[in-house]
Amino acid sequence: TKFAEITGWGKCLPPAVMTNDDLATFLETSDEWIVSRTGISERRVSHVGTSELATVAARNALAAADLDPNELDLIIVGTCTADELIPNVASKVQQNIGSKHAAAFDLNAACSSFLYAMHVATQGIKTGAHKKVLLIGAERLTRILDWTKRESAVLFGDGAGAMVLEASDEEVGLLASHISCDADARDVLSLDFGSSFDRFNFDGIMQFDFVGQEIFKRAVKGMSAAVDKVFQETGMTTDDIDALIPHQANKRLIDFLGKMCKVPSEKTVINIQNYGNTSSATLPIAFAEAADNGIIKPGDSIMSAVFGGGLTCGAGLIKW
Ligand code: ACO
Repeated sequence: TKFAEITGWGKCLPPAVMTNDDLATFLETSDEWIVSRTGISERRVSHVGTSELATVAARNALAAADLDPNELDLIIVGTCTADELIPNVASKVQQNIGSKHAAAFDLNAACSSFLYAMHVATQGIKTGAHKKVLLIGAERLTRILDWTKRESAVLFGDGAGAMVLEASDEEVGLLASHISCDADARDVLSLDFGSSFDRFNFDGIMQFDFVGQEIFKRAVKGMSAAVDKVFQETGMTTDDIDALIPHQANKRLIDFLGKMCKVPSEKTVINIQNYGNTSSATLPIAFAEAADNGIIKPGDSIMSAVFGGGLTCGAGLIKW
């Protein structure tokens, strides 16, 4: 069996910063409310499309892996804010980076998309179907947000992260993963563009509809169950974990998850204060940042746990 080694990683964070105080100039909210309830202090706002953010993150990851884009055989983009419905973001990235021999598709499991994509790509490499895969999580959520709704406008930000996976004989990469979907909870988080396609306008505003506390409960339950399954499969315990990289949706939720999984806070990677919730991009951005800052090191065992609309959940053990 081959393993799927992470040979490159990269990110793209648009330079424009919107602080909580900026939001409070046009919404009935405050820095104090946002920080205490979510842990978010500021977020990035992009003036370019999701595929452009994805392309920059991809170029950085390819450069880190020192890989010619023509060697890629698969590109997967996790996103729920594609620039167009057809063609997908992955094909735009493929065109931008000049990659000629890859299959390319988008994957939407909301905020869980990147781990879902990693799970799929790793299976593809293990079976021998693929050898060099580019994975991206990219979102431009600020374009579709309703800026008059304080419940949702304060939570999200834009950004992208990427990884290159390559077939390897060494026992590294995503060694175990468990993904799930609690479809009975489909209604607790939705982003609806209307009941008919006539009302659909990609340049328009979409309504986030969510029951925050219900998501909170179900997300903690789903993620801790997935983490337990991964521990069972690998025979590892909390003591073997060097870092926890959770989806960045709420700092309180991250703290709660850390306690449930018994991972000390100093081993938990948190950057939500700077970027808010960038949906599918939170995991690869956090990985890239932690790698660049030396918070995670080659040889480390990293647990990741994610959740998103669906309600999708997942956990994965990455041996770096
Ligand atoms: N500023 C000031 N007040 C606000 C704001 C705001 N931006 N937003 C809501 N409020 C008010 C509400 O109107 C409410 O007022 P009321 O008590 O007078 O009715 C009060 O604050 C409390 O609102 P709640 O929604 O109960 O606040 P809660 O503590 O649950 O925090 C949050 C909301 C942050 C969304 C939390 O439930 C959460 O993080 N949930 C899990 C993650 C989540 O749902 N993320 C969004 C979906 S995307 C994803 O994560 C996959």
